[in-house]
Amino acid sequence: MPLIRFRKPRPEIEVPAGTNLMQALLGQGIPVASSCRGDGVCAKCRVEVVEGNRNLSKENDLEKFLRDRHQIERNYRISCQVTVEGDVTVDAGYW
Ligand code: FES
Repeated sequence: MPLIRFRKPRPEIEVPAGTNLMQALLGQGIPVASSCRGDGVCAKCRVEVVEGNRNLSKENDLEKFLRDRHQIERNYRISCQVTVEGDVTVDAGYW
């Protein structure tokens, strides 16, 4: 199963392939900024992908819209809009 790792010292998380990234983090008690609770409106749930962006689902239309609207850099993903398909390392400034 895919592993979610972190840049900062924190235990890795093992999740089934296809798990929503934001839900995986929240499920382990890791805070994820949000004001829309995963509805794809706020873009606050973005996380930096340190390694393994290819192991996340492809950008969907909503993520593309949010990326353009909020000028989000390519190394960040909108966590409520992506699924984990392989190992990935992520970070957020507030962790
Ligand atoms: S939680 Fe609002 S866009 Fe992801």
